[in-house]
Order: sequence, then C-alpha cells, then structure tokens
Amino acid sequence: MNSVKGASSIQIIAAVLLLSIGAAAPATVSAQTIRQYVLEPGSDGLQLNVREVDQPVPAEGEVLVRVRAVSLNHRDLYVLARPGSRGRVPISDGAGEVIAVGQGVSRFDVGDRVAGTFFADWTGGQRTAEAMATARGGGVDGMLAEMVLSHENGLVEIPDYLTFEEAATLPCAAVTAWRALFTDGGLEAGDTVLLEGTGGVSIFGLQLAVAAGARPVITSSSDSKLERARSLGAVGTVNYRTYPEWQTEVLALTDGAGVDHVLEVVGQETLNRALEALALDGHVAIIGGLSGRAGELPLESLPNGSSVTNIFVGSRDDFESMNAFLAEHQLRPVIDRVFAFEDAPAAYAYMESGAHLGKIVIALED
Ligand SMILES: NC(=O)c1ccc[n+]([C@@H]2O[C@H](COP(=O)([O-])OP(=O)(O)OC[C@H]3O[C@@H](n4cnc5c(N)ncnc54)[C@H](OP(=O)(O)O)[C@@H]3O)[C@@H](O)[C@H]2O)c1
Repeated sequence: MNSVKGASSIQIIAAVLLLSIGAAAPATVSAQTIRQYVLEPGSDGLQLNVREVDQPVPAEGEVLVRVRAVSLNHRDLYVLARPGSRGRVPISDGAGEVIAVGQGVSRFDVGDRVAGTFFADWTGGQRTAEAMATARGGGVDGMLAEMVLSHENGLVEIPDYLTFEEAATLPCAAVTAWRALFTDGGLEAGDTVLLEGTGGVSIFGLQLAVAAGARPVITSSSDSKLERARSLGAVGTVNYRTYPEWQTEVLALTDGAGVDHVLEVVGQETLNRALEALALDGHVAIIGGLSGRAGELPLESLPNGSSVTNIFVGSRDDFESMNAFLAEHQLRPVIDRVFAFEDAPAAYAYMESGAHLGKIVIALED
C-alpha cells in the first residue's frame, strides 16, 4: 500500500507526544466544555491536535449528539494531506445519542440513537455541487469530538440491534458498498462480485453480497485474511501477491464467464486486470485509489453491455435503505480493533499500516 504523505509516523508520534504531555489535552473537562480533535498544520501536512471548546448549543433545526464511537476510512488519511481541511474536526463517520434538540426539530428526540450521514446535506436524489461540498471531516466538521452539532437532516436513526461502535462504521464504507452494489449495480441473487483487498469497503461489499444471495470473490495480500473472508461467505479467494495475474484466477473461479460486479477500490494497479475479469453486461463501480487513482478508462477493454459508475458514497436515502436491509439480515459490521479517544493518532497509524480487516473504531466513554 502506498504510504500516505500526510500521515507520516513522525507526525503521528508528534501528535501522540502532544497528547501524552497534556499540552493540548486536558485530563478532565468541565460541564461546559468538550474535547475535540482539530486538523492543524504539522511538520508534513495536517496533524491531529486535541482542543477544548465550549459545549455546542443547537440552533433551530439542529441536533446535539453525544458521540459514542467513530470509525476511520482510508479517506481520513488522505485528508491529512489536504491543506483545505485545516481547522476542521476530522473523521466523517460517527454514531451517538441525541442529548438536545433545537427549535423546530421534528425527526429526533432526546435519547434517540443516531449516526451522521457522510454528506451533512445530501438527503437523496441527484447530487449537487453544494451537497458534495458537505462531506464531513473534510469539507465540513467531522465526528472526532465528544459532542457534535448536526442539522436534523444530516442524521439517520441507527438499527436497534447494533452497538454504537458497529453503527459508527456505516456512513462511508458501508453506504459506498451499498450504493455500488444495489443503487447503481442492481445486484441480484446469484450474481458474482469481485472485491479487492479486505479493507472497510470491500468487507462490507462481501457481507452485503452474501446477504443478498450473491457470490463474492475477494483478493488479499494475506492468506489468513482470505481465510477470514471465507468464513464471512466468500466463495472464491485469491492472494494477489502470490498470483500477480490474479484476474486469471478470478476468471477460472467463474468458469471463464467473469464477474458481474467489481468494487474497484485500488485504482491504478487493478483497473485493467479487473476489466479483464468482468463479465458481459457487468458493472464496475469506480470507488478508490489505494494504489493511486486510475487515470484512464480503457474503453476497448470494456465487455459488451458493461457499465461503469463513479461512486461518491451515497445519500441519506441510500443509508436508510441499507439500514433496513442490515436489520432484515441482522448483519453485523466487522470491527478489527477499537482505540480510545486519546489514542486517535495510533488508530490512524494502524490504518496506514494496512494490517486491519474490515473497520477500525475509536470509542468514546459514556
Ligand atoms: N468514492 C467513494 O465514495 C469512496 C468511499 C469509500 C472509500 N473510497 C476509497 O476506496 C479505497 C478503499 O477505502 P477503505 O476505507 O475501504 O480502505 P482500507 O480499509 O484502508 O483498505 C485497505 C486494504 O486495501 C487492500 N489494498 C491496498 N492496496 C491494494 C492493492 N494494491 N491491491 C489490492 N488490495 C489492496 C489491502 O487489503 P489486504 O490487506 O487484504 O491486501 C488493505 O489492507 C480508498 O482509496 C478510499 O479513499 C472511496
């Protein structure tokens, strides 16, 4: 995996030191203040610093959420390299409980269990440039704080059977996989699905595909991760290190027909190979650039009838449809490791290491 410039280990050590010497992290917080992380300039891009700020008060239409857990996405590493996110509270994904509501709020009451939508302001329908600019933890403030304010339209109720830690994993990776497979991909039982690597998006893609009666094939650099993927329902597995021409193995696993869906999260290193493994009438969801974004789409390699969509997470409608599906199938997100709020920089370093399978969570105390 490419190293992410903005999340260098030196920078993370610096942030850990800052926390451990208490320069910016008060040990206790009075009733009127909260702690939040803020992205501030470091030696190499942005770094995470803890700041104490006044407890927010909800204005008309707003909801105050006590955050109970957040989860990391690979994007949170990229954001560290984007000067435009300076001053923002990081991390798009979080869940918690409503502790106050502003005037006119009708969707939520105090005590409700909620998660933030990835876009603070994309409820459904067509994307707008304005909505795309409201990606939490980058374009607007994110969730790595003891409390956050959100307009009521930027929250969803979380399924009763999920813990806060599980619900915190959903807004970006799970909604992206949902949108790619169902909203755009029209996944049907019996379809084959190719998932690249065992990170957050891919493992949600695997779980959603299995629950829908589809047949997922997954790649990984690790045989032990592939074994775990099998236990989650993968019908085919390929180690992309052992088999650099892994697309040939994927074709063999599908009796030469190719896969009906690809969740393309790696980019430069995988797109051409994934297209070689795509079936006629297949669908490719362009999602990520773990090896760098693919710069070109080789049209001559697209099988007849195939389609390509460019995914940017999904709307609140997608999130709510997915939550109904999760509850119907009692799906539980795969959490690799949980870190404490104080250890957020270590959670970032762990994500950068690529050792995880599924999701990395940061839990906040009650
Ligand atoms: N467009 C969107 O809406 C959207 C939404 C979500 C995410 N994304 C993007 O999608 C990508 C994945 O995000 P994520 O949060 O799921 O990442 P993640 O959890 O950090 O996934 C990392 C895993 O990907 C696998 N991987 C890395 N390099 C690979 C390579 N060259 N070939 C095959 N697999 C490789 C590795 O799996 P193994 O250890 O098993 O080898 C690695 O552990 C990122 O680029 C992210 O920005 C885009």
